[in-house]
Amino acid sequence: MDMIAEARALDAADPLADRRGRYLIPEGVIYLDGNSLGPASHAALAALDVAAREEWAEGLIRSWNAAGWFELPMALGGRIGRLIGAGEGCVVACDTISVNLYKVLHACLALRPDRRVILAEATSFPTDLYIAEGVCAAAGARLVLAEGPVEAALGPEVAAMLVNHVDYRSGALRDMAALTAAAHAAGALAVWDLSHSAGALEVGLDAAGADFAVGCTYKYLNGGPGAPAFVYAATRHHGAIRQPVTGWWGHARPFAFETGFEAAKGMKAFLAGTQPVLSFRALAGALEDWEGVEMGAVRAKSMRMTQAFINWVEAACPGLELASPRAAEARGSQVSFCHANGYEIMQALIARGVIGDFRAPDVLRFGFAPLYLSFEEVARAVLALAEVLESGEWREARFAERGAVT
Ligand SMILES: Cc1ncc(COP(=O)(O)O)c(C=O)c1O
Repeated sequence: MDMIAEARALDAADPLADRRGRYLIPEGVIYLDGNSLGPASHAALAALDVAAREEWAEGLIRSWNAAGWFELPMALGGRIGRLIGAGEGCVVACDTISVNLYKVLHACLALRPDRRVILAEATSFPTDLYIAEGVCAAAGARLVLAEGPVEAALGPEVAAMLVNHVDYRSGALRDMAALTAAAHAAGALAVWDLSHSAGALEVGLDAAGADFAVGCTYKYLNGGPGAPAFVYAATRHHGAIRQPVTGWWGHARPFAFETGFEAAKGMKAFLAGTQPVLSFRALAGALEDWEGVEMGAVRAKSMRMTQAFINWVEAACPGLELASPRAAEARGSQVSFCHANGYEIMQALIARGVIGDFRAPDVLRFGFAPLYLSFEEVARAVLALAEVLESGEWREARFAERGAVT
């Protein structure tokens, strides 16, 4: 069977195929970058429109109460929580991952006052490491980077072990339950970055016993560019959250305008300042698209899709080296291939309407979001990649020009 026929057979059996119509994907584009920025959905744009024209333009300041703006961080946190296996009241939406991680790592050091090490994988997404450095500098702690398996570097000084659930470059998926148990056995707290797993697979934070997690909503959750991030804390930590960005939104009584700070109860203690309401509303719309979606079905399609992509690329595109785990259970919803001219090849592919991205030094990265991608698109993307390689068109000088964002 040829690739397109095989893809059509897979599409015919896809229980999520009918969700595609919810998203606006431009004609002629095959979008394999939902792991960086998810597309707009009709529901997200409609929610944004209502928020701007009715709640803001008409409601003005009254909307903080009348339209429920004030409650958005916890309300949206609850809806995100359902998708990542978090119990009621354990997730709050706010700020960015970077800022939330700053708060979480400080909270960890406060929970383990006799331990002064933050342990992270050397391959973590850089902002995680930069933030951990900043926390260590502020709190008199030390950042230890594990070059090998992170759990091997656990020890009596480690307060928190920070792990990226899915590695942003390779797509390798970490075993959350096993690593969390290892951290706990060593007396440390387990902190998870869910950037590449929220909305892509069953995360199961409560079931894994995780202590804290951070994640974003602009990737697989399709909340929009710069959409608010979120924080998770297990219920057992709720009474003891001490974080340094002690703004009025995280106060127990923000509108009492008291002089001294007293942290709010539960997850509201992670809030700092006034939230970006329009971004929250776009996210609220995007989350409507997840209603009735079972994460197990998303994961099953994602594994089938990444496997088909690997098989097809390896059959049609000589010269590319797989940089992701070969076993579907061991990777997230992305596939990476290495090539010394990966940047130019990706630019040439984008010029053909197949959008993936590039991560230095040599990684071509392809994301597979099961809610809006078809197997036929994936097969067509592989055919385009094969043509880019075979024709050598990527050698054109224009494809070597670098933008600020890759
Ligand atoms: C693993 C990981 N963490 C963090 C971030 C970015 O965090 P922020 O929301 O602070 O920009 C990214 C962005 O792609 C990421 O992949």
